[in-house]
This record gives sequence, C-alpha cells and structure tokens, in this order.
Amino acid sequence: MKHIILDTDPGIDDALAFILAFNSPELKVEAVTTVAGNVNHMKGHRNAKKLLEFLGITDVPVCEGAVIPLIKKLSHAEEFHGKTGLGDSELPEPMMATDPRSAVDIILEKANELGKELTLVAIGPLTNIAVAILANPTLPEKVDKLVIMGGAFNLTPYGHGNANSVAEFNIWLDPEAAKIVFNSGIPIVAVGLDTTTHPDYRMSREMFEGIVSRGNRTTDLVNDLCKDLVERFNGFSLHDPQAMAYIIDPTMFTTEKYKVDVECSGELTRGMTVVERRLYRIVKDEANVDVVVKVEASRFLGLIKERISGE
Ligand code: RIB
Ligand code: CA
Repeated sequence: MKHIILDTDPGIDDALAFILAFNSPELKVEAVTTVAGNVNHMKGHRNAKKLLEFLGITDVPVCEGAVIPLIKKLSHAEEFHGKTGLGDSELPEPMMATDPRSAVDIILEKANELGKELTLVAIGPLTNIAVAILANPTLPEKVDKLVIMGGAFNLTPYGHGNANSVAEFNIWLDPEAAKIVFNSGIPIVAVGLDTTTHPDYRMSREMFEGIVSRGNRTTDLVNDLCKDLVERFNGFSLHDPQAMAYIIDPTMFTTEKYKVDVECSGELTRGMTVVERRLYRIVKDEANVDVVVKVEASRFLGLIKERISGE
C-alpha cells in the first residue's frame, strides 16, 4: 500500500488522475491539496471537492493551498480545460467542508506521521511543495519521494514545451517554486511532456470511444470532461494519469537520472527544465531527478482503460 498526498489543480487530466487514484487498491490517498494552476484556486478547490463527492469519497481531507505563484503573475489554462476547469462536465456544487488545515500543514503533518511511507504526488504547479519545504527544510529527507507531472526535458522527440517553446505548464506557472523543489534534495521522479505527449502513450479517439461506449456514470463523466479535447485534438495527452500510473506500477516505466535546474528569468525560456548533458560535467551523485523516458504503452493504456471505465 502506497500512502500519497495528491497536490492538484483540477483540471481535466487531474480529474482522470483522481478517478485512477481512487480506483487503485495499491494507493491510499491521505489528503488532497489544491493549488492555483489550470484555473484559479477557488475553482480548482471546488473541482477537487466535486470530484471527491462524485467518487463517494468522504474520509479524505481536502486542504487549500496557494492561490498565487511565489513570484510570477497568476495565469491559467482555461482555453484548454474550460471556464470551470472540468470541460463540459456539470457536477453538483460540493457539500463537503474544506479541512481547516492548509496544504502545507497537512503535508508536514503526514510527513511526520508516515515518513518514508509517504509519497508526495504533484500534478499541478509546485507552489505548495516549495512552501512546505521552506516551512520545514527537513521535509525532503522525511518522505519517500516526490512524483511530479512536470517538465519538458528534451530527452525524447516530444520533450518540447507546451506553455512556451521549452517550458511545461506546471513548471512555467511557478518556476521559482520549481527551482526551490528541484534544488531541495527531495528525491524526484518527473513525468514530463517527453512521454506524456508521446503519440504511443496518448488517449486516442478510438480508445476514448471504447471507454465512453460503456455508458456508466464514470464513463459519462469521462465523456463530459474530454469530448471537446477529442474533437479538437483527435485524442489527448494523459499527463496527470501517467504520473499517477507511475506510483501504481513503476515497473511500466523507464527512468534516467539527470541533474536538472529551472530557468526563471529567460525571456523565451522562463520555466524551462534545463538538463545537464555535457558529459564532462555529469557527476553521478549530482543527479537530482529521475526522468521518465519510456513507458510500456500497452500496460499503461491497459491500466487506464481498466481503472477509468467505472467497472
Ligand atoms: O502540462 C500539463 C500539466 O499542466 C497537467 O498537469 C495539466 O493538468 C496542467 O496542470
Ligand atoms: Ca494538473
């Protein structure tokens, strides 16, 4: 059993990661913490509660996190995720209460309680993780690891940016937070655009139609969440679900160790995850990130099909 805290900016693909996480017996979600990203924090936090109620989850604390990035002006991705952040879905207004603890409070509390039993999972900007590390600099050595959906590492032909030519959205939205996290010593596994946008690992139109043809309440939600993306992009990237799948079964993934830092001031490159690849500069123990570079496509897509089909 892997104990996780899910830090999220729901978000269509975040919503799929929720469905995957709560339909995976390998995981125990200790808390959900929200961060501004795809949509503003108020919408994202409300979406997290809507999703938990849809999934019938009543015993997992949902805690509020950062409403703005550390330094950068707040942005969003509503053009992709829709005004609500959950595509065309119309989930009822949530009734559940927000836990009084902040995102940082619960991250530090669960790290003290669970130690190496705890994996932090960040599928949005890294603001909450950075603030938790600043609040308690021993956090990086307390937990097992941090798994992120984040970065574009130029390690596959698909490893370019989506927020700009070289930066992935979660890093780009709060690059200062990412720089703090990447330089904190916390063990990081990064699932980046290098594999999440790989055509072999995406949700194809055919796969989507197969899932939604099952016509149950979960697949009806998946349809409402994703149908616009499928029409616009003939399928879509499973960014956050790929990070969640790594925690469920890391044996499907190949990683490589690199020294990675974050560009915070480049006019064209702000938010870039810069990989040290100069052979004479690579010092083994300087590597700070395990970057996912390959996925066993049939196992990964099989897991997605199985776990988000509501059966
Ligand atoms: O770049 C993709 C990432 O940014 C995903 O986590 C998506 O939900 C957005 O947060
Ligand atoms: Ca996300």
